[in-house]
Amino acid sequence: MNTSRLVYRSRQFWQALTTRPSEVDKELVASILDPGQVELFNLLQKSEQTHSIRVLKAVRKQGGDNIDLQAAALLHDIGKVKEPLRLWERILIVITNAICPACVKEWGAAQGEVPSAMPGWQRAFVVAEQHPAWGAELASQCGASVMTVALIARHQEKLSPEGAGEDSEENRLLRILQAADKNS
Ligand SMILES: [Fe+2]
Ligand SMILES: [Fe+2]
Repeated sequence: MNTSRLVYRSRQFWQALTTRPSEVDKELVASILDPGQVELFNLLQKSEQTHSIRVLKAVRKQGGDNIDLQAAALLHDIGKVKEPLRLWERILIVITNAICPACVKEWGAAQGEVPSAMPGWQRAFVVAEQHPAWGAELASQCGASVMTVALIARHQEKLSPEGAGEDSEENRLLRILQAADKNS
């Protein structure tokens, strides 16, 4: 990540921390998710709710009128409700991702351990790496569609470059979601 990208990401991060969903935003969420899913969405930290709504709006701007994609935009980070991160842990992830993305992958790969029993610094990386899988499970339990669940599970997956081969509908939607997530 170059310096201007890091500055951009930092500004986004602080903006997201200080803004709250408006009443209009809440109505928008309720128009896409069913009541049980809205309850789940409301468990996200306020700053994460704001981020997810920004992702939804970005997806819509790109012509993402697919309802499964819109639900995935709102719920893509829902796995974070399992292990809410403190501010310093979130900052740690942003900085480490900028300096050494491979370290985030390596330190977050611990499987089968209880994150809350880990040293604080490692717990943050496990959440960063594993919240897509946790989120897919939660969304599935809340009745999300197969496509929404798949998009949540894969939202951090590295896709091959566009045009490198035939894209499935799932991959096409995933590209829209990932671009919106990256810029929101
Ligand atoms: Fe995520
Ligand atoms: Fe996200």
